[in-house]
Amino acid sequence: MLLTDDAPASARMIDPAFRRAILDGLSRSPKATPPTWFYDRRGSELFEQITDLPEYYPTRTETALLKAHGAEFAEAVGAGRAVVEFGAGSARKTPHLLRAIRPAAYVPIDISGDFLRASSADLASSFPDLPVLPVVGDFNQPLNLPAAIDGLPRLGFFPGSTIGNMEPDAAVDLLRAMRRLLGKDAMLLIGMDRIKDRDRMVAAYDDAQGVTAAFNLNLVERINRELEGDLPIDGFAHRAIWNDEKARIEMHLEAVRPLHFHVAGESFSMAAGETIHTESSHKYGERDERLLLRAGGWEPVRDWTDADAPFALVLAKAD
Ligand code: AVI
Repeated sequence: MLLTDDAPASARMIDPAFRRAILDGLSRSPKATPPTWFYDRRGSELFEQITDLPEYYPTRTETALLKAHGAEFAEAVGAGRAVVEFGAGSARKTPHLLRAIRPAAYVPIDISGDFLRASSADLASSFPDLPVLPVVGDFNQPLNLPAAIDGLPRLGFFPGSTIGNMEPDAAVDLLRAMRRLLGKDAMLLIGMDRIKDRDRMVAAYDDAQGVTAAFNLNLVERINRELEGDLPIDGFAHRAIWNDEKARIEMHLEAVRPLHFHVAGESFSMAAGETIHTESSHKYGERDERLLLRAGGWEPVRDWTDADAPFALVLAKAD
């Protein structure tokens, strides 16, 4: 049962938040833009393709963990919760969790409205008795949950190691915001990618088919299309590097020659070799995971991991 209370986004207008984020990011030194803006329709589709790539182990590993441990989640979490998924996207992993724990409602939250509506409709047809209440919004900003789940205990679901795309201070702020939003009896099931062999991590962000490169370069196309930009697509190359000190994969768009371009009426220049840092994907040690969760107001209860491609699903309860 699909229940929407939001109107589809109307005409293609300049999104002031996108404009501000890109102009700020390009004015900085070094240049850096927030990864949120990858996910227009095309970016969301490319991300779905990434999750199927042979090199991109996180989705496959996490899905296998969800499939394998359903009975244990059910025991640890109990039935009758409202599952609130942060950044639901296509929600392809969610059915495994929903089938296992028998929730009272499902609230997917995603910034990409079109995509969210389509995936919510699919999910609602697979679970006809489950109220599906999509919320279009940025989970990094204050949000309201649907009144229909008032009074239900909540389980936050934040798979995919999306937490890793945040700087540690922002990750703690987000965990605290989730804690406030979900209430005092809440639990959180969160995916966190672990540190592993460097080449394997780099390959996951620089695949042989070039899908991740297209995902990164789609940001340039989006800026051109939505912010009156004239960035030359062939002026940028995709780069993925492991920053050992910060324990993260970084994606950059590197200028392959000196560049001059405009965005929303402002001029920018880049020297050859200069980059725009477009994403960080932090990887965690076992203790780092627990420390981060505790700093965010969540007490870890249990975790499930895969020995071949270390990735953890951690269950925590509101502190
Ligand atoms: C969404 N997020 C967890 C992905 C990641 O692995 O950091 C985004 C991504 N970027 C490139 N490939 C995948």
